Amino acid sequence: MPINVLLLENVHPVATEALEAEGFKIHNEKAALTEEQLDKLLPKYQVLGIRSKTHLSKGLLSRHPHLQAIGAFCIGTNQIHLAEANKQGIPVFNAPYSNTRSVAELVIAEMIALSRQLGDVNSAAHKGEWLKSAKGSKEVRGKTLGIVGYGHIGSQVSVLAESLGLRVVFYDVIKKLPLGNARPMDTLSALLKESDFVTLHVPETPKTKNMIGASQLKAMRKGAFLINASRGTVVDIAALVASLKAGHVAGTAVDVFPDEPQSNDDKFESELQGVKNVILTPHIGGSTEEAQEAIGREVSTSLILTMKTGMTLGAVNFPQVAVPVKEGGSRIINVHKNVPGVLSEVNGIMAKHKANIKAQYLSTDAHIGYLVMDIENAKPEKVLAQVEALPTSIKTRLV
Ligand code: NAI
Repeated sequence: MPINVLLLENVHPVATEALEAEGFKIHNEKAALTEEQLDKLLPKYQVLGIRSKTHLSKGLLSRHPHLQAIGAFCIGTNQIHLAEANKQGIPVFNAPYSNTRSVAELVIAEMIALSRQLGDVNSAAHKGEWLKSAKGSKEVRGKTLGIVGYGHIGSQVSVLAESLGLRVVFYDVIKKLPLGNARPMDTLSALLKESDFVTLHVPETPKTKNMIGASQLKAMRKGAFLINASRGTVVDIAALVASLKAGHVAGTAVDVFPDEPQSNDDKFESELQGVKNVILTPHIGGSTEEAQEAIGREVSTSLILTMKTGMTLGAVNFPQVAVPVKEGGSRIINVHKNVPGVLSEVNGIMAKHKANIKAQYLSTDAHIGYLVMDIENAKPEKVLAQVEALPTSIKTRLV
């Protein structure tokens, strides 16, 4: 029996190709579906793939506990009730780092654009004004870039910036391996003092809220530039506007905002509009065709591996298990309530059927346990039925 997969919201075709190559049967829908539409369709599918516009509520997931896996072909997973998916034994996979390079490239482009005031001269030229001048226009070579948050994106920016001849310093709350010649800074203020460009790559946390406010902007070098492609809450926008108007910060590129329009039909408003040497972009840091394709590849690979081997590595709501490809024998997968004694019950069933356990992989979280077990010398269907019948079992299948 082929595994039936429902893909919504125009998931990149590379996902369909990859899943079909593994023998899965795919049905694609262009748009997001409503809960009512999903209620009708889902009984036919074992795997569901969505992007950010399809909402999978607690109620919906509880009505479709037969689902084996969900692919979020995007970065965020707020649209999915992850706790309910966990309770129903459904792992959810996303692709958090597929757009890392895209964001890093945008940041590099923005450093040069700010340094040459490209935003302003471009709009002037469109209006018929010819602003040819070298004043205040600089190369980025030899300047210092300060990276706040040296994670996936920050470290990628570091490598690209050094190849352009910038000196790189960085600040992170965790000790990180400096790439190339990058130098770690002990404090944020030390970084701000040394940098000609400051770029932010921290997550949204209570600690990073307004991390760059009036006093941090004051601590930056006069004439330095600020780039924010992380989260809108990280910068105090009013303080930034004040610093720009006072001529302290020389320019800024902002991709993320405290209040972002919900769709392209909504109006965008920001205090930064109309301020000199300010580049505003509509949260497009990670929005490239390559990133979409990488997301399609990464999530479909996770879905294939979880369905074919039981692997749950990278699932956002599930105990993580990395398992090798099955070689001979049978593999039983069992999601169960995380209560004492499950493993001995399962092993008791194996003993009763004289099954030889070749390998067992178990991982648990606060609510569920996830067991992958390779067995030999037993009728797998019989063993499966007994494991499935255990009162602790949530979901059991054979791969
Ligand atoms: P990551 O988790 O790989 O790196 C974040 C780094 O920030 C970590 O090294 C962490 O230790 C550090 N950090 C956390 N709190 C800090 C603090 N208070 N001070 C200094 N460092 C701190 O994350 P990744 O993938 O590099 O993403 C970074 C940001 O970029 C996230 O906010 C993410 O939402 C955003 N992003 C924006 C996109 C866009 O379209 N503009 C696309 C993708 C991500």
